[in-house]
Amino acid sequence: MRRRLIAGNWKMHSTPDETESFISRFLPLIGSAEADAAIFPPFTSLDRAGRLLRSSDVRLGAQDVYFEAKGAFTGAVSPGMLVACGCRYVLVGHSERRHTFGDDDPIVRRKLDATLSGGLDPVLCMGETIEERRAGATFDVLEAQLIAALRKLPPDLFSRVVIAYEPVWAIGTGETATPEQAEEVSAWIRARVGAAFGAPAAERIRILYGGSVKPDNARSLLTLPNVDGALVGGASLDPEGFAAIISAGVR
Ligand code: PGA
Repeated sequence: MRRRLIAGNWKMHSTPDETESFISRFLPLIGSAEADAAIFPPFTSLDRAGRLLRSSDVRLGAQDVYFEAKGAFTGAVSPGMLVACGCRYVLVGHSERRHTFGDDDPIVRRKLDATLSGGLDPVLCMGETIEERRAGATFDVLEAQLIAALRKLPPDLFSRVVIAYEPVWAIGTGETATPEQAEEVSAWIRARVGAAFGAPAAERIRILYGGSVKPDNARSLLTLPNVDGALVGGASLDPEGFAAIISAGVR
């Protein structure tokens, strides 16, 4: 049985003090749930969050990473720096990185490789725009994103990858994929992984859904057979709401 992962992507929200106050309200709300919980605050809060979460079960992730270890790369943050802050995960290929910051498929691949070789687990995000969905191109888009990010990845590294299906039209819009849409795409991703990496890898990989997940729709999405968790944006900024989403994900 795959263990659920509920991840909170805070985007560009929360100072270190605000992060500390979130954590102090959040930790008492979550028991030793049968789901993994993780938060992804901005870079500037990671060190503080890492210290505060050290003796808890809540995991820490970063929203981005650069693919070099060190050097003259102004503004960039390396995998080693994230490990030193206590991170376990990194979001790779989030739609806002792809569309606002120009992270194209080759860059996403380099970041995924650097994440893995740096000892962090990537949460590879992928999804189609509304135009692509209307044109019936959803699976072509996902196929291209999957191949670019994962082609020829050695199986031992692949086993550390988490995939998040996030339809671009559902991110931050309040519009959620229907359970049928989320299940259809997640099942397709699992089958595609099976074809490329074998049935055991497909059975093991965690596939998350992201896009306007809220406490009131979490249960309908998190109880789908091929959805193993959620990547939550806006609703993860509220400790009570995020804790409610985590409880909805316990099988
Ligand atoms: P949202 O964001 O939950 O605010 O739609 C999801 C995401 O971008 O990961």
